Amino acid sequence: MKMLVTGGAGFIGSNFVHQSVRERPDVEITVLDALTYAGDRSSLDPVADRVRLVQGDIADADVVDPLVAEHDLVVHFAAESHNDNSLNDPSPFVRTNVVGTFTLLEAVRRHGVRFHHISTDEVYGDLELDDPAKFTPTTPYNPSSPYSSTKAASDLLVRAWVRSFGVEATLSNCSNNYGPYQHVEKFIPRQVTNLIDGVRPRLYGAGLNVRDWIHVEDHNSAVWRIIDAGRIGETYLIGADGETSNLDVVRTLLEIFGRPSDDFDHVADRPGHDLRYAIDASRLREELGWEPRYTDFRDGLAATVDWYQENESWWRPAKAGVEATYAASGQ
Ligand code: NAD
Ligand code: DAU
Repeated sequence: MKMLVTGGAGFIGSNFVHQSVRERPDVEITVLDALTYAGDRSSLDPVADRVRLVQGDIADADVVDPLVAEHDLVVHFAAESHNDNSLNDPSPFVRTNVVGTFTLLEAVRRHGVRFHHISTDEVYGDLELDDPAKFTPTTPYNPSSPYSSTKAASDLLVRAWVRSFGVEATLSNCSNNYGPYQHVEKFIPRQVTNLIDGVRPRLYGAGLNVRDWIHVEDHNSAVWRIIDAGRIGETYLIGADGETSNLDVVRTLLEIFGRPSDDFDHVADRPGHDLRYAIDASRLREELGWEPRYTDFRDGLAATVDWYQENESWWRPAKAGVEATYAASGQ
């Protein structure tokens, strides 16, 4: 099978490529990635002899169309992915997340190629802290930020291309991922690398916001389950019952680093900050028999800390620039 992975030099995509090389020796892999600030060629170094990397833009039909035509399956990770950036400049989010997904859909329609669309739980908006409900595949869409609204738009395009044109696509909406190769702009890598540098972690607002953490390898094993056995046109929610407040994440990191539990700073809150995300993954578990492997968040976090300690050359070049951008927003 020939598989095209968009965004395969980013966080989740590069982990997906590593896992696919390990577990799917018969799959020929091409990565299509624009290598934006968030993409790093070196994230594919460990598998470079098994993967072809094409540098290109998913919104450029002249690049996308002939490449899609050579493949049997497209797994679509490429996106502008950071909420804070989308508040500063939404325009690349519209181009990549909406126009890019449209461009890929037109190509898979033309060439009859199977498509799996990677999306986020943020399309459903947020939940109250004391709400017993979780997001399900029938929760109404209610995105809050430019990032999540462009992801919602991309999901709706995929659903329409399935219904109107018979495109063979599945969708997945996952909660917050953590693990190796995550950009230092994101919450967990930012605090881990701050602590390595002896800098206090930074919590937006009171730190009570809750995210439903899942290890990136569990996200990617679920993606393969859906590719192998998911029903065409269906949406699967991916989550591993990992609800944790930002404050508790920081306290766990401080404990791992042997620092006092109050050794952090509160900084300016994110405008429109979603309060809580929580996933009900029962369709994935019951219909497709998927189970996560990383069930102890502290263990997964400690392994992630080890990775950042051992791979400083990977994250160091981006660190100062990211911190300068945050400082300009009082964060
Ligand atoms: P990331 O920002 O780490 O990586 C995105 C990758 O896409 C980068 O390699 C970048 O170079 C590439 N890219 C960006 N614009 C492109 C373009 N126009 N053409 C080609 N390539 C382009 O993102 P991530 O955290 O790995 O997220 C991957 C996907 O998973 C996204 O679709 C995101 O919405 C979704 N998702 C992320 C999370 C999470 O917690 N990080 C959770 C659920 C869903
Ligand atoms: O839920 C899935 C989504 O998770 C994905 O779709 C996004 O691509 C991904 O970036 C992530 O979005 P969040 O906005 O939840 O992730 P982020 O890492 O930016 O922030 C996590 C939480 O931590 C959020 O409540 C904001 C807070 N935060 C973030 C930073 C960078 C802080 O308190 N301090 C920080 O320094």
